Amino acid sequence: MHGNVVLVFLLFVTIFDHGLTTHGCHLVTSSKSIPCMDLQATSFITSATSTFGRFVEGASTNRRDTCSLSITEIVPPLIRQFFPQIRPFYIDTRTNSQLHGMRFLNDKTAFVIDSANHRVLKLSLTEDSNNFPIVLNSTVFCAPTKPEAMMEPNDLTLSRSGTVFTSGMMFTTFPHNREGDVWSCTKNGEAKRLELIGRTNGIDLSFNETRLYVSEGTPSGQRIWVYEVDVHAGTISGKRSFAFFEYPADSAQSIAIDGMRTDVQENLWVTRYGGREVVVFNQHGKLIGRVGVSFQNPTNLEFGGENGTTLFIVGQCEGADAGCVDSIQVATPGRSWTILQ
Ligand SMILES: *[C@@H]1O[C@H](CO)[C@@H](O)[C@H](O)[C@H]1NC(C)=O
Ligand SMILES: *[C@@H]1O[C@H](CO)[C@@H](O)[C@H](O)[C@H]1NC(C)=O
Ligand SMILES: *[C@@H]1O[C@H](CO)[C@@H](O)[C@H](O)[C@H]1NC(C)=O
Repeated sequence: MHGNVVLVFLLFVTIFDHGLTTHGCHLVTSSKSIPCMDLQATSFITSATSTFGRFVEGASTNRRDTCSLSITEIVPPLIRQFFPQIRPFYIDTRTNSQLHGMRFLNDKTAFVIDSANHRVLKLSLTEDSNNFPIVLNSTVFCAPTKPEAMMEPNDLTLSRSGTVFTSGMMFTTFPHNREGDVWSCTKNGEAKRLELIGRTNGIDLSFNETRLYVSEGTPSGQRIWVYEVDVHAGTISGKRSFAFFEYPADSAQSIAIDGMRTDVQENLWVTRYGGREVVVFNQHGKLIGRVGVSFQNPTNLEFGGENGTTLFIVGQCEGADAGCVDSIQVATPGRSWTILQ
């Protein structure tokens, strides 16, 4: 009996070990046996090839595989496509605007945040003969003023029906618990403030639109909250802690959660600004992967490319006054890319 147990155990170890050697980490397609905690993105745009300024922020994908991604630049306020080629996309003529997060709703509409003027802009789009998007005009979609304005906003996510959810913060020398907010803007541009908490930044919906993930930075640490969401009403409820990074135990105060994106398997991919990495959580909040990034300050990320499985990570180049992009091929397409198909 004892012998049988040992034999079964040895068989299990052999099969398990063989499985790992053959397939490696399930999050990526690479055939090498790299553990999920040791994944590494590679340079896609370096300081030597970059035409972007250092303040790159919003990464967004549109439907076409020929024309996947754009990055917003805060200063000067412009948007350039970077994949499959670098080309200008939008220049804001108000020189005091600051463009942050951006998302495409469909081929005709995208939303971009102007944090300096506390508003969400709607871009009306068409396509040129190469199927590249062109901006026809930009209008103010959502800019609440009474009883209060949005603190920033910073980043946004979009439901399939076009409800916008925003994060944002105001910077003070001593961080406190009421310097971040979460808002929704429904189709007609009607705004609701949903939260007044610590600094909010990363924000995304789950693929089936039942959950909203929001990051919060407070003096004690960085947390990701998960809410139940009603995307048609633009409301949230059932707030629960999803993941927490404590400062002292987790190296440094200077590491902050920045942009976040979900994939269609309900995993959440999270940039760690200052931490030189992207971390991956499954839907239960379990840490299931770490992706090393070649620069210290990743600010945002998005899935795009031919099958929506190329993860692009944007941020400040290391030691250069420019914006950089890393990429890694992953196994599961992103949410935004998938719902645009
Ligand atoms: C912007 O362009 C769209 C598409 O052509 C058009 O429907 C809309 O009326 C335009 N808005 C403004 C303010 O020009
Ligand atoms: C939606 O996805 C969540 C995981 O994010 C899952 O727990 C839930 O059961 C799903 N709900 C529906 C209605 O599919
Ligand atoms: C996309 O999928 C096709 C078909 O499976 C495959 O041949 C191609 O290599 C994939 N491209 C990328 C960039 O993953």
